[in-house]
Amino acid sequence: MAVDIVILAAGKGTRMRSRLPKVLHELAGKPLLGHVIDTARQLNDSTLSVVVGHGAELVRQRFPDPDIQWVEQGEQLGTGHAVLQALPHLRAEATTLVLYGDVPLIEAETLATLVELVRDDSLALLTVTLDQPTGYGRILRNADGRVTGIVEEKDATPAEKLIREVNTGVMAVPAGKMAAWLPTIGNSNAQGEYYLTDLIAIAHGEGLTVATHQPASAEETEGVNSRAQLQVLERYFQRRIATRLMDSGVTLADAGRFDCRGQLSAGEDCFIDVNTVFEGTVVLGAGVRIGPNCQIRNATIGDGATIKANTVIEGPVTLAAGVEAGPFARLRPGTVLHEGARIGNFVEIKKADIGTGSKVNHLSYIGDAVIGSGVNVGAGTITCNYDGVNKFTTTLHDGAFIGSNTSLVAPVTVGAGATVGAGSTVTRDVPAGELTVARGKQRNITGWQRPVKQQKD
Ligand code: UD1
Ligand code: CA
Repeated sequence: MAVDIVILAAGKGTRMRSRLPKVLHELAGKPLLGHVIDTARQLNDSTLSVVVGHGAELVRQRFPDPDIQWVEQGEQLGTGHAVLQALPHLRAEATTLVLYGDVPLIEAETLATLVELVRDDSLALLTVTLDQPTGYGRILRNADGRVTGIVEEKDATPAEKLIREVNTGVMAVPAGKMAAWLPTIGNSNAQGEYYLTDLIAIAHGEGLTVATHQPASAEETEGVNSRAQLQVLERYFQRRIATRLMDSGVTLADAGRFDCRGQLSAGEDCFIDVNTVFEGTVVLGAGVRIGPNCQIRNATIGDGATIKANTVIEGPVTLAAGVEAGPFARLRPGTVLHEGARIGNFVEIKKADIGTGSKVNHLSYIGDAVIGSGVNVGAGTITCNYDGVNKFTTTLHDGAFIGSNTSLVAPVTVGAGATVGAGSTVTRDVPAGELTVARGKQRNITGWQRPVKQQKD
């Protein structure tokens, strides 16, 4: 069925106390509105209109996507008025589905089910039953249990306030009816607003059926009005991802201390310790172990790799099977580690291709480098890749051995099997198989006396 989706996002969000429009606040690293848009896009044969008002320009800029029709609502005169602004974009034969930019956890499956309930002579309303219904519009039903209308909290009688079935705001209506009814809605109510919810009584009055559906979980329909609510929804969302991962064969040390702000996929038997943050797109092979307190962004990590505690990965990076990194390693964009390579503590790697089984174990900076297999880079080795203007490449061929505290002044190449003595400053290429020592010669001065402390008068 063709569906025209209208997302209401014009409100100010005063309680966020923010310069940022509410719908741009992020949940799991993505704006609230982004979650709703992505979910809406999962519906087949649909169009997307977003009603904006407060901070309209900022919101539009954040979503340059060509499939979004932007609708401006200059003054926020109520939810009915908001949808009215979108009418010109609604196809007469389609179903109109109303969503909210600040209700981010709604699931596509729930929406699909709701839309299925719409007929020429019936519309569909998403409701939930709450122990604490205060603040929500209450669903009015007659003796036969048929929905007859919605009454807002501020307009409700004490008896109506006892009703626990509430309006989530999400509804699906034949567009033709929407177009006929919306302009007839008035604003004589406690808030002086044009209530979208008035459609329900009109529909009932005209003999239509108002079908209702409840989501699998009430979280789906919770809105964000404050930062406290945002945090609650963040935790729901993270719990969802954590559960999905565990179901797919990943062990989490603590599902309550797991954060994914992007797309994470994992093979079987991965282990993820506490407080690791995943961002962007991260792909873990099978049997990957991630230690505590890591930050991992845009990375592909092969089978059996181990990322030890406090490692920061700022990809794109590609780590092959059996790689080890950390503790306290930093892997920056363009890092490629081949099978079994090992990066140890306090090592920074940037734009470097490091071959099979090679090791950079301690306190090094390796940038703009091509390193072969079986290379050992000693503690404190620095690639001097930058002359203040340009970047240059360091190449270490297979089996090279770089002594500790070596500076490799790029562009420079160390040949296969060559050895560089500790403390060298290498400015010229090193031939294969040879030993290079490029440092001041040691002098031992006999009879030297340490200075003695002078007396002050
Ligand atoms: C609305 C429903 C209420 C329901 C509740 C669920 C109405 C009249 N009431 O109440 O039955 O229980 O949602 O949360 O619909 N908005 C605009 N333009 C406007 C007014 C609102 O874009 O002119 C947007 C707001 O940004 C907000 C959403 O619509 O995201 C809801 O508006 P709000 O005024 O907060 O409605 P509620 O009082 O929550
Ligand atoms: Ca609200």
